[in-house]
Amino acid sequence: MSVSILVGSQWGDEGKGKVVDILSSKYEVVVRYQGGANAGHTIEIGDKKYVLHLIPSGILREGVICVIGNGVVIDPQALLDEIKFLNDQGIETKDRLFISHNAHLIMPYHKLLDKIEESGANKIGTTGRGIGPCYKDKYDRRGIRLVDLLNRTELERKIRQNLEEKNNVLKKLYQHEELDVEAIIQEYCDFDAKIDSYITDTTSLLHKAMEQNKSVLMEGAQGALLDVDHGTYPFVTSSSPTSGGACTGTGIPPTKIDSVIGIVKAYTTRVGNGPFPTELHGDEEEKLRKLGAEFGATTGRPRRVGWFDSFLVRYSRMINGIERVAITKLDVLSSFSEIKVCIGYEFEGKELKYFPTDNVKLSSVTPIYEVLPGWNCDITEVKNFNDLPKQAKDYLAFISEKCGFEISIISVGPKRSQTIEL
Ligand code: GDP
Ligand code: IMO
Ligand code: MG
Repeated sequence: MSVSILVGSQWGDEGKGKVVDILSSKYEVVVRYQGGANAGHTIEIGDKKYVLHLIPSGILREGVICVIGNGVVIDPQALLDEIKFLNDQGIETKDRLFISHNAHLIMPYHKLLDKIEESGANKIGTTGRGIGPCYKDKYDRRGIRLVDLLNRTELERKIRQNLEEKNNVLKKLYQHEELDVEAIIQEYCDFDAKIDSYITDTTSLLHKAMEQNKSVLMEGAQGALLDVDHGTYPFVTSSSPTSGGACTGTGIPPTKIDSVIGIVKAYTTRVGNGPFPTELHGDEEEKLRKLGAEFGATTGRPRRVGWFDSFLVRYSRMINGIERVAITKLDVLSSFSEIKVCIGYEFEGKELKYFPTDNVKLSSVTPIYEVLPGWNCDITEVKNFNDLPKQAKDYLAFISEKCGFEISIISVGPKRSQTIEL
C-alpha cells in the first residue's frame, strides 16, 4: 500500500491532470481534497481531450476508484454536467465515483456574490465559480453540505435561513434583485435525486481501502502558491492545495502519507491578479503563451507567462515536503535559443534569503537570472532520458539542483505517450 499526495508546485495549470492520469495506472484510488469547479485538469488520450473540473483525473483509468473528499466544494450542476460528459464518452461513473457527504454545496448565491465582489475594490481575478463565498459560509458555520440533501426538512430550513440573509445583502448592499427561494429549494431537491447514489462517508471508504492495502493518490487542485495560508495572499484561492490540506480534506491522517509528488512546469504561468516576478511582456510573452497554448482550461482567459522561478519552487518544495517531481511542458521551451531561470530575488539592494509571500514585497522584487543555452530541436517524440539533447538535460539538472528535488517524470507533450519515466 502507498499513499501519495500530488501537488501543483506553482500557481496552477502545471499539468496535474496529465500526471495524475499517468500515475493512476499504479494507484487503485484517486481522491480530490480541496477546491471545486475552479480547477481545469486536461488529459489527452489518443486524439481525445478531456477537461475535468471536479472529478479526479483517475476516472479515465479503468478500475480506478475516484473520491471527491470532504474538503471539496461542489456545484451540483457542474458535477452532473461532468458525469454526463464522461458517460457520453463511455466512461462509467457508477460504483466508481464516491462523494463525501461532508462536502459543501455551492449555491446560486455563492456564484452571484463571487461575480459581484469581483466588481468591487478587492479584485482577485477569480474564476467566478462561487468558490470564495462557499468556503466563507463553510468557515462561518452556515454552509449547506451534501448530507443536507438527504433530509428535505433540514435542507429547506437551511436554504431559507441562508437566503433571508443573502437576499438582504443583495438588495441593500448591492442593489441587486432578490433570488427566488422556492425555485432554489426545488432545484436542490431535484439534485438530490440525481446525485444521491454517489454520496457516502468517504472517510470510512478511504480507511477501508487502506486497510485492504490499496494504494491511494491524493490529487490537489490549484497550485501551492494559490494556497490561502502559504500562497501569495490575497491573490489566492480560498482553500489549501498544499500537501497539508490533503489530510483535512480527506480524513487521511499525516501518519499514513508515504510521499509527496510535485508537479513542476518547466516555466511559470499564472491566471488572475497578483505579483509575478518572472512575468514576460511583449514578443517573448506572446511566443511562450502561443507555444504552451496557455489559455485557461476553465475560463479560457489568456494565462500570464514567465520564466522558471527556482526561488519560488524551492519555497514550494519546502512547504509541501516535495521529494520527487514531474517536470511538465519541457517541449514548450524547445525553440528558445536562450532560456532564463530565476535563482533568487533582490529587494532594496539586498538578495533575499527567503521567498516573500507578502504581496507588496513580492511586487517589488527584482529577479536574479541565470541564462542557459536552449536546445533548438523538437523533443516531443523522445522516449528515453538519454535521448534528450545535452542542453535539455543540463536545464533539468540545473533546476533540480537549484530547487533541491529529484526528477522522476519528464513530460514532453500533452499526450499519455509523451512521457519519460526515470
Ligand atoms: P492542470 O490544471 O495542472 O491539470 O493543468 P491544465 O490542464 O490546466 O494545463 C496544462 C495544459 O498543458 C493542458 O492543456 C495539457 O494538455 C497540457 N500539457 C500537459 N503536459 C504537457 C507537456 O508536457 N507538453 C505540452 N506541450 N503540453 C502539456
Ligand atoms: P487548476 O486546478 C490556475 C486562480 C484564479 C484566481 C484565484 C482565485 O487548473 O490548476 P477562485 O475562483 O479559486 O476563487 O480564484 O485562483 N485559480 C486558478 N489558477 N489554475 C487553477 O486551477 C485555478 N483555480 C483558481 O485565477 O486568480
Ligand atoms: Mg488547470
